[in-house]
Amino acid sequence: MSGEEGHPVGIDLGTTYSCVAVWQHDRVEIIVNDQGSRTTPSHVAFTDTETLIGDAAFNQVIRNPTNSIFDAKRLIGRRFSDACVQDYMKLWPFKVIEGPDDKPMIVVTNKGQEKKFSAEEISSMVLMKMREIAEAYLGSTVKNAVITVPAYFNDSQRQATKNAGATAGLKVTRIINEPTAAAIAYGIDKRAGWYSKRNVLMFDFGGGTLDVSLLSISCGVFEVKATAGDTQLGGEDLDNKMVNFCVEQFKRKHNLDVSGNSRALRRLKNSCEKAKRRLSFTSSTDIEIDCLYEGTDFYVTVTRAKFEELNRDIFVKCMEPVDKCLKDAKIDISSVHDVVLVGGSSRIPKVQQLLQNVFKGKELCRGINPDEAVAYGAAVQAAILCGKGNEKLQDLTLLDVTPLSLGVETGRERDMTVVIPRNTKMPVKKNYPVTTRHDNQAVVRFAVYEGESTTTLNNYYLGDFRLKDIPPAPRGVPKFNICFEIDANGILNVSAEDVLTGQKKGITLSSNDTSCEGIEKIM
Ligand SMILES: Nc1ncnc2c1ncn2[C@@H]1O[C@H](COP(=O)(O)OP(=O)(O)OP(=O)(O)O)[C@@H](O)[C@H]1O
Ligand SMILES: [Mg+2]
Repeated sequence: MSGEEGHPVGIDLGTTYSCVAVWQHDRVEIIVNDQGSRTTPSHVAFTDTETLIGDAAFNQVIRNPTNSIFDAKRLIGRRFSDACVQDYMKLWPFKVIEGPDDKPMIVVTNKGQEKKFSAEEISSMVLMKMREIAEAYLGSTVKNAVITVPAYFNDSQRQATKNAGATAGLKVTRIINEPTAAAIAYGIDKRAGWYSKRNVLMFDFGGGTLDVSLLSISCGVFEVKATAGDTQLGGEDLDNKMVNFCVEQFKRKHNLDVSGNSRALRRLKNSCEKAKRRLSFTSSTDIEIDCLYEGTDFYVTVTRAKFEELNRDIFVKCMEPVDKCLKDAKIDISSVHDVVLVGGSSRIPKVQQLLQNVFKGKELCRGINPDEAVAYGAAVQAAILCGKGNEKLQDLTLLDVTPLSLGVETGRERDMTVVIPRNTKMPVKKNYPVTTRHDNQAVVRFAVYEGESTTTLNNYYLGDFRLKDIPPAPRGVPKFNICFEIDANGILNVSAEDVLTGQKKGITLSSNDTSCEGIEKIM
């Protein structure tokens, strides 16, 4: 055992599956769980007698659909009122209600009692399980961990993930982006960029999210040029389309509607997910479920062509971030040396074909394990941060970027004034001068937003804070310096200083009280 805090691990906290890895004996080892699997379902289930996590939770889901929680990553760091949360809720068999401060809360029955859990709490249970898996394998305590998040996760989603790690008793030494972690795996395992610079496009299509990052790798330096993605696009959406198709088929053949029966729907979902996987390797497959509903069996043959037709829109949507990423990076497709497939859904032939078309027929790199590469890279980063890597890792440097523009609201028209544009290298610190909007304004409010629209109405509100007791002065005279600081985890801190009085306030991004006056840009 090395040191009090044991081995540092890397954890890929996935929407559907999680994976834990460790740097040991000069290489990365993917850790197997008690079932002998290298990935563990991100499922938590509550029963009359216990709480189950991972495979045990997944294996009883059909018997207990309303108390079996999955998809916590689709909820983490979001508000109950977010449109996507409302949409997902229609598909989940478990109950989600509005908690304090618009926070979504999952309601379950555990040991005969009703209990409420936040998405962070569910994720922390999954992280705790991953920690236990690592501890059982290593025979020592595990404390330090690098946890990965989709590159396109916003500030609150990152913060919430970090909190989940702390609740699981982990010291989160860094939050890193999933495609960047996968690029480390690619760089180390395949020795990419070892001898000459390589531009690499990571295409990470998982269970819940799609991330695209363009990096240039050279002599151990991993520099992210741009990142793009969609946090609401993944393999689960393909499963849902297939479930809908089956529900329609069942209705047509037997005049029975299963759409209100969560047990039948869950059985369909599991069968559809398996059928989808098979369709990546065969052109046709059968779905067969005995006694699906009211004693009636279900049987259907699904061809790959049908699967592609059902998901045409999703597949087309998958290519949009690729174009955006290339444009943002100002890199022409002819300058991309490798296009690397990551994530379980990148195995789908149609996805590979469309991606290959974007790159004018270029061969795609299938060399790294799409289910394990993210945890692999996270383990490398964890070892480096704890000073445990060998000389091979000493020179490895990560230069990542912010996925979304960050700024403040200015003026009467709710303008978005960008302080840190998207794809800026992290960590970063930037100051921005602003002033008052009214004569003798005593209180100023700084409202912080994230997003690409020129009006804050269409951007994501992160929080606000205010400076009080501003000495009376005509409008435009007081001067405030706003400071935006993004740390290496991609987590934002905002502060503002009254230049005249020296009064300073840091952000604890708090409730949305819009009752006092905002600010103006200094021209
Ligand atoms: N052979 C296959 N063909 C099609 N899809 C597959 C295949 N194998 C796995 N998948 C899908 O890949 C998804 C899981 O991939 P992965 O483990 O990379 O996602 P995740 O890490 O859980 O999610 P995310 O990264 O989006 O948070 C699931 O939706 C699964 O059905
Ligand atoms: Mg993943």
